[in-house]
This record gives sequence, C-alpha cells and structure tokens, in this order.
Amino acid sequence: MRTTEKIRIVEVGPRDGLQNETAPVPTETKIAFVNALSETGVDEIEASAFVSPKWVPQLSDAEDVFRGISRRPGVVYSALVPNERGVERALEAGIDKFSVFTAASETFNQKNINTSIEGSIERFLPVVESARTAGLPVRGYVSTAFWCAFEGRIEPAATVAVAERLLDLGVQEVSISDTVGKASPDEVMRLLDLLLPRLPADRVAMHFHDTYGRGVENVLASWSHGIRTFDASVGGLGGCPYAPGATGNVATEDVVQALDKEGAAMDVDLRGLTLARHMLDSLLTEDRRTLPRDGSPACAACEQADGDVCCGRGEATP
Ligand code: HMG
Ligand code: MG
Repeated sequence: MRTTEKIRIVEVGPRDGLQNETAPVPTETKIAFVNALSETGVDEIEASAFVSPKWVPQLSDAEDVFRGISRRPGVVYSALVPNERGVERALEAGIDKFSVFTAASETFNQKNINTSIEGSIERFLPVVESARTAGLPVRGYVSTAFWCAFEGRIEPAATVAVAERLLDLGVQEVSISDTVGKASPDEVMRLLDLLLPRLPADRVAMHFHDTYGRGVENVLASWSHGIRTFDASVGGLGGCPYAPGATGNVATEDVVQALDKEGAAMDVDLRGLTLARHMLDSLLTEDRRTLPRDGSPACAACEQADGDVCCGRGEATP
C-alpha cells in the first residue's frame, strides 16, 4: 500500500536511550549526537529531559545540551517536562515542544513520577498552561498502555481514559507507549479500534519498546490503522529506569526500513542514522541496559514465563 501521507519520525534516542545508560556520556558527545541526528531527516528529536536530576542523573545536563545544539530549521527539539520546575528550566533553555508523561497503571506512575494518575494530571495543569502562554505545543505520553511490569495486562479502556484526560487538559498529541515492549499487533489494533473514534489518528504517536522483538510488527500494525507518527531510537537504545525489564525502543533504522518497504512516504537517511549511532560506540561498549531478570515483576506478568525463569526473549541486542 503506497501512501503519500508523510510519516513523522520522533527520534527519542538522546532522551529515552541515554536515560537508561549507566555509562557516563559527556555533554559534548550528546550535543554532537543530536546534531548528527538533525541531519538525518527525522522530524522531531527528543533531546533530553527537564526531570529531577535526583531521579535521572544521566540527563542532568539538559540545559547545556539545548544550549549547545545547532538547530536545523524544520526539526522540532522537544523534551520531557514533568512539573513547574521543569517548565522554568525548559523555557530558559528554549525548547520547541513540551512532553508531559503519565501512565495507565497507577503502580508504574507512583514508581516513575511519585504520584497517582490523577495527581499527575493536576501537576500537568500549570505545565500545559505555561506552554500555551509561550505558544508551544505539548505532547502527552500514556505509558504502560498495554502491559505494566507491576500490574500485568492493562485494559484498553483504561489507556483510552488516560488519553482522554490528557486531551481534556489541552495536549495536542498523545504518545501511546508500550513501556515494557510486550504488546502484540492484535493488542495494538484492539486499542486503536477503541481510541481512534475518540481521537484523530494525526494526533496519535506510537512509542514501542522492543523487549520481545515485536516493535516493528507493532509499528506496521499501527501504520495500517492510519497512524503516521512513530517514536524510535537509533540503534534501539533505551528503556525506562523505573520499569524493570524494559529494554530499548524499537530501532529507528528498523522502523524506517520496514515502512519504506511497505511504500510509506518518508525521507530519512539510513546511513546518517547509522553514523549517528556509531558516535556512541566507544562509550557504550557494553550493553548495560536493564534486562528482564528471573522472577522480576516483568517476568511475573509475562505469559512467556516458565515458573520463575525468564524466557530470555527480552534480552537486549547490542
Ligand atoms: P518528587 O521527588 O516527588 O518531587 O519527584 P519533589 O518536588 O519533592 O522533588 C524532589 C527533588 O527534585 C527536589 O530537590 C526538587 O527541587 C527537585 P531537593 O529539594 O530535594 O533538593 N526537582 C527538580 N529538579 C530539577 N528539575 C525538575 C525538578 N523537579 C523536582 N523538573 C518528579 C517528582 C516528577 C520531579 C520526579 O519523580 C521525576 O523527575 N521523575 C522522572 C522520572 C523519569 O524521568 N523517568 C523516565 C522518563 S518516563 C519514560 O521513560 C517513559 C516514556 O519513554 C514512555 C514509555 O516508554 O512508556 C516517556
Ligand atoms: Mg519509552
């Protein structure tokens, strides 16, 4: 199926990728990494996060990254902004778009942002208001949209309800996120069948982690349902430090190749993506990403698990 509607790629490697790496990555390298990604034709780069450095020390240099990068016209440079303190820092650094983030699972939300779903919506009110005043768009993430490492399967209706709360709050775009990378294409289509009558496809992004190697299939299932915005991280970097078992995002290179093969309209330079990823090779020599552990909550919620033993399908690839 060839379509002319252009695909939007949101490159989340500098944020989702680097937040989960224990190897220190110097600020200059992050800046060079973002600059290299800017030349590849991706539409948006989530360049860092204005979250508490106590929670995610890896991204404590967000201001310096934003000040140091060369902005390519047409590319949107976004970041996570969880609260009013984040707003002050993000505006000072001159970001183009805010991302607020909550989840369909109460337990994950408590672990990730130390509040309930309702508490997160209240916390985002002044964030969205500040973005509106500054004339900036806001994305709202719904994490654990399919599965949660702590609560197991999440009902599609619960995810849709949180997406609707974010829309009511005034976000322009919702990113439906498979935090632990466990969704199947059937689950993706079931959720989209429920979501899309309430929210137009051009306001939805899909954000797949690739723990069980289904990220590309899930992208293709979403694409066939009319979704045109996909989050991905170059080289499959990433994970969430507060979601045990969550490995990297689906690799941008894989998403671009798979969609291109299907005839989707896009103009992303694969070689440029590979070169950008290789800039980190000397730093990320070992794969230090969080892996599913035997008996971890991720395994306990997984139908692949055999007793307490992890099936290993979630093992990250270098
Ligand atoms: P808290 O501890 O409940 O709040 O954190 P607090 O207000 O008591 O703040 C604690 C300390 O952090 C204070 O410092 C604050 O000043 C400071 P102290 O007084 O102790 O010296 N602080 C900040 N400093 C700088 N910038 C800020 C900021 N906020 C507070 N913005 C909070 C609540 C939300 C801040 C914290 O829980 C947090 O930062 N969490 C972020 C966790 C995170 O980044 N997780 C990974 C990203 S989400 C993800 O990966 C999922 C996603 O990819 C989609 C998917 O895959 O599902 C998006
Ligand atoms: Mg993520």
